[in-house]
Amino acid sequence: MKLLIIGCGGVATVAIHKCCQNPIFTEICIASRTVSKCDALAAKLAPTTSARLTTATVDADSLESLTALMKAFQPHTVLNVALPYQDLTIMDACLACGANYVDTANYEAEDTDDPAWRAVYEKRCKEKGFTAYFDYSWQWAYQEKFKAAGLTALLGTGFDPGVTSVFTAYALKHYFDEIHNIDILDCNGGDHGYPFATNFNPEINLREVSANGSYWENGHWVETKPMAIKREYDFAGVGKKDMYLLHHEEIESLAKNIPHVKRIRFFMTFGQSYLMHMNCLQNVGMLGTTPVEFEGHEIVPIKFLKALLPDPASLGSRTVGKTNIGCIFTGIKDGKERSIYIYNICDHQECYRETGTQAVSYTTGVPAMIGTALVASGKWSGAGVFNVEEFDPDPYMEMLNAYGLPWIVDEHPVLVD
Ligand SMILES: NC(=O)c1ccc[n+]([C@@H]2O[C@H](COP(=O)([O-])OP(=O)(O)OC[C@H]3O[C@@H](n4cnc5c(N)ncnc54)[C@H](OP(=O)(O)O)[C@@H]3O)[C@@H](O)[C@H]2O)c1
Repeated sequence: MKLLIIGCGGVATVAIHKCCQNPIFTEICIASRTVSKCDALAAKLAPTTSARLTTATVDADSLESLTALMKAFQPHTVLNVALPYQDLTIMDACLACGANYVDTANYEAEDTDDPAWRAVYEKRCKEKGFTAYFDYSWQWAYQEKFKAAGLTALLGTGFDPGVTSVFTAYALKHYFDEIHNIDILDCNGGDHGYPFATNFNPEINLREVSANGSYWENGHWVETKPMAIKREYDFAGVGKKDMYLLHHEEIESLAKNIPHVKRIRFFMTFGQSYLMHMNCLQNVGMLGTTPVEFEGHEIVPIKFLKALLPDPASLGSRTVGKTNIGCIFTGIKDGKERSIYIYNICDHQECYRETGTQAVSYTTGVPAMIGTALVASGKWSGAGVFNVEEFDPDPYMEMLNAYGLPWIVDEHPVLVD
């Protein structure tokens, strides 16, 4: 099966390692903006895999560039592990060239000052009640196009969204008649030794965590100021950490796809040093996305900051400790209340030894491969646009165990108040 992978950053590096371990992928083309990164990875992995590896340069913001590559390579499926900014262009190219589409993050506009985008965004803020720059409406709008083309688009197969959504489908299938509350807890107990760095693309990461928080309750969104809700939790394998409520994209799809759900919240852990730096950068305007004039040049503050911060890809060798990401569910089974916690613990240094990246890339790249393999094998099939929780979770859960992200079910978890 021919697979085109777009992007060659931290997440892509892991996804490509894992695709090379899965014999379903017989030909893999690695395409990105900087082809030298693709060449280096292909040279490293070629001796380890039976897949035929090729590389290409592509500008994923350009439909022409994408369709030229896809027409030449003729992929069965395209895995988009570039940036959320490119989701729609890559979906359009898949439709034009008859390829299935898979990604790990929903569409986000790069230019949030574009008046056409802003008009749609402001209408959505009013109608839906949350102000994040990213949401599923843009990609769900492709439903009829993918249906008509007889193609599958699988959205959000990273860890969160992705594994957390599959955990939800698995809990519903095997442990509950109705799920009422979902708390998604994302803990990174890793230490890279820098005063401040982000674990994945700084621009995407900082835009996410500096935005308002929100959660779903009784059929509507409740929005909070950034980092306004804080809890402490004692994570298996990591220990006690402060965690903060964030808006997160899987809340939107789980609210749509999980019947009877009453509340969905997402918490992420942050250390005091990270928060202090982020607040300071926010206060001085360094997280701004609007270009500013500086000595005759236009610069976008957050892009300039990205150039100054450590490249997330360089953190792998220095990061020690573990991540623990999972979901606590409460609901009803056979008329009785119950709660369970499904989670994975991942060790940064083990990830580094296997793939040269830290656990945040690893925990995203492994599920990116799994979702792609399920679409490629036809185990997950259907014409249209789907979120991962809409499919049978069992084969995905088996592959998590087989490909490096084993999970645990705790039937007596401590709940978050
Ligand atoms: N669901 C989850 O759990 C989860 C978690 C973390 C991240 N993610 C998502 O994973 C994706 C990748 O994140 P990452 O940390 O790997 O980012 P990254 O390290 O910055 O890598 C992005 C890659 O995309 C390439 N790229 C960017 N713009 C491009 C364009 N116009 N044309 C072609 N290639 C382009 C970059 O090329 P260069 O090498 O030239 O810069 C780079 O190789 C993002 O969408 C992120 O939101 C999902």
